[in-house]
Amino acid sequence: MDKIIVEGGRPLKGEVKIAGSKNAALPILISSLLTAGMNVYTNVPDLKDIQSIKLLLSTLGAGIETDGGTVRINAGGLCIHEAPYDLVRKMRASILVLGPLLARLKKARVSLPGGCSIGARPINLHLKGLSRMGASIELKHGYVEATTDGLKGSEIYLDIPTVTGTENLMMAATLAEGVTKIRNAACEPEVVALADALNQMGARIQGVGGTTIAIEGVSSLHPVSLRIIPDRIEAGTFMVAAALTRGDVKILNCEPDHLEAAIHKLRLTGLGVKIKGNSVRVQGQNSIASVDIKTLPYPGFPTDMQAQFMVLMSVADGLSMISETIFENRFIHVSELKRMGADIIVSGNTAMVKGVPNLSGAPVMATDLRASASLILAGLVAHGQTTVSRVYHLDRGYEMMEKKFAQLGAAIKRVDP
Ligand code: EPZ
Repeated sequence: MDKIIVEGGRPLKGEVKIAGSKNAALPILISSLLTAGMNVYTNVPDLKDIQSIKLLLSTLGAGIETDGGTVRINAGGLCIHEAPYDLVRKMRASILVLGPLLARLKKARVSLPGGCSIGARPINLHLKGLSRMGASIELKHGYVEATTDGLKGSEIYLDIPTVTGTENLMMAATLAEGVTKIRNAACEPEVVALADALNQMGARIQGVGGTTIAIEGVSSLHPVSLRIIPDRIEAGTFMVAAALTRGDVKILNCEPDHLEAAIHKLRLTGLGVKIKGNSVRVQGQNSIASVDIKTLPYPGFPTDMQAQFMVLMSVADGLSMISETIFENRFIHVSELKRMGADIIVSGNTAMVKGVPNLSGAPVMATDLRASASLILAGLVAHGQTTVSRVYHLDRGYEMMEKKFAQLGAAIKRVDP
């Protein structure tokens, strides 16, 4: 398994281009199941999770062609309604095929995704919403078995503004009979991007980006050609990297509006942030102020930026409190950061971070996607060498991360031991 070796202490300088958003591309590629005909998606990131979803879609009968960042999908041949365990376990967002399969084939058998390192991640709200729309759902042998005589519009209240739950229900509702209202819906930019894609396919969705979404079902949808929005979490990760290394980095092809909360907090730490259209120049400062954060559903501070921000706070001046309110176990990176000299105390869903003058390089192990990014960030600023193992976690969500950092002047390389 590959490892990444980083020699810390070099300030990052130069320009970096942000790739398409993983969490927008996944539901949008899956939305191709809702229609027959050729959909064309550009700016699709080259990630393990994207490869997994393309494999799943082709298993279901969709035709797929990939040419660099352009992916063409024709689900006219959709004929299989089963998403097998060995595919779903690799990528839990596969559960997003449930809504489209029910809408298109009126049946679906999808493996339960199971938990993951950051939490139990149940899908009860996905299932409750689909039941409200007239699906009969059974859980058998680790699978969701769902059938319907035809989905009907319904009023759905989500106890939690679940991102993929909102996306699953929104896709199912596009072909349901009548109007579906989803209350307490998620309003992340990736949810808005999916709704925009569906509306370009002929769906009738209103209110997306707010907390109540109305979807008027139509009889069919037509294929679409569209560009995937930039990955806001990749952009935020590079902003933290510039702050940590006291660098000067221009981040291109990003959407600053999607990162308001993170930019606000980074500015409070002292980071210079100059926004110009879809590029952001970030200039690190010698002193880093300690800032408290609490992760919240959008537009609050994104949970996917929590681990990265914690690395910055671990070398800040003073004490910061980091509260994780979205997932119950998203402090796994703390133990590895402490091995690098960070001074962090965790109590429940809050971490108290006391800034130290510097971190020291060490062999560390990645455990999940964003935790692995945080360990790379720590290596960029630590004294000495850091070796991050199990970087397959990183490859799920970051396109050529070590190459992008190397182009910015970092001493970083990937080795296959
Ligand atoms: C999406 O996951 C993202 N993944 C996650 O990004 C992101 O961290 C998360 O939203 C929160 O922003 C994709 O979009 C593919 P949720 P999702 O359903 O939809 C609970 C990354 O690093 N919940 O919004 O699975 C759940 O346990 C990944 O790119 C229920 O209780 O997250 C969690 O505590 C990690 N029942 C909270 O809601 C449900 O039916 C938010 O989860 C669904 C969710």
